[in-house]
Amino acid sequence: MRRIDRIVILTGAGISAESGLGTFRDEGGLWAQHRIEDVATPEAFVRNPDLVHRFYNARRVQAAEAQPNPAHHALARLQADFPGDVLLVTQNVDGLHEKAGVRAIHMHGELSRALCAACEHRWDAPPEMSVGEPCPACDKPTARPDIVWFGEIPYHMEEIIEALQTCDLFAAIGTSGQVYPAAGFVEEARMSGAATVEMNLRDSDMSYAFEEHIVGPASKTVPAWVDRLLA
Ligand code: OAD
Repeated sequence: MRRIDRIVILTGAGISAESGLGTFRDEGGLWAQHRIEDVATPEAFVRNPDLVHRFYNARRVQAAEAQPNPAHHALARLQADFPGDVLLVTQNVDGLHEKAGVRAIHMHGELSRALCAACEHRWDAPPEMSVGEPCPACDKPTARPDIVWFGEIPYHMEEIIEALQTCDLFAAIGTSGQVYPAAGFVEEARMSGAATVEMNLRDSDMSYAFEEHIVGPASKTVPAWVDRLLA
């Protein structure tokens, strides 16, 4: 069996579901309540910035109130105690990994941050953002949530791809495998010879690409998987 020195973990909305944050595509999920093209594209922000701010303000309040669950805490234990490298890449914008003490790469941005659409300055977002808020660096009224919208390029891709190409184990937790480039990470890791494991309540669109499947709620499956890796 290949020795495991480097682990890359990808998380999605499913890891935060048991913290009370709704996912996007499960029954009654966010994308059943809102149209992506109304709230999660650069064009939507140009057309109706007030609606977009209200959507993200509501999510910011929910995320601020939510607490990490045993899956987030288990990943913190893994990052602290595993003798090799553990890179955690998340598509989540909720900040629950950090609340559990994990260092995470936020490829889809963070609700807690604001971005100037004009000069790309970033700062801590206030609990409520509103239309026309000035950028603290250039003073233009172009503040937006620091969220990667559909049609935009996810953050930190070079670092992530390099890690996928050198990892020994790739794990995806609570993600539907419907959004690229994250959905393609499993294939990138496999091409580098990494072992692959998927943890989800059910099959995802990318299940076929994983060698191992652990089915069940993340709050149970992730701590058990971490115990196994640390044993
Ligand atoms: P989805 O809502 O697409 O998928 C959530 C996944 O989590 C599904 O496969 C569920 O089966 C699984 N799941 C739900 N509850 C779970 C639990 N308790 N334990 C384990 N698994 C569970 O969310 P993402 O895959 O994260 O992007 O979505 C990817 C991206 O699409 C998001 O980052 C967001 C969205 O549009 C942007 O907003 C840019």
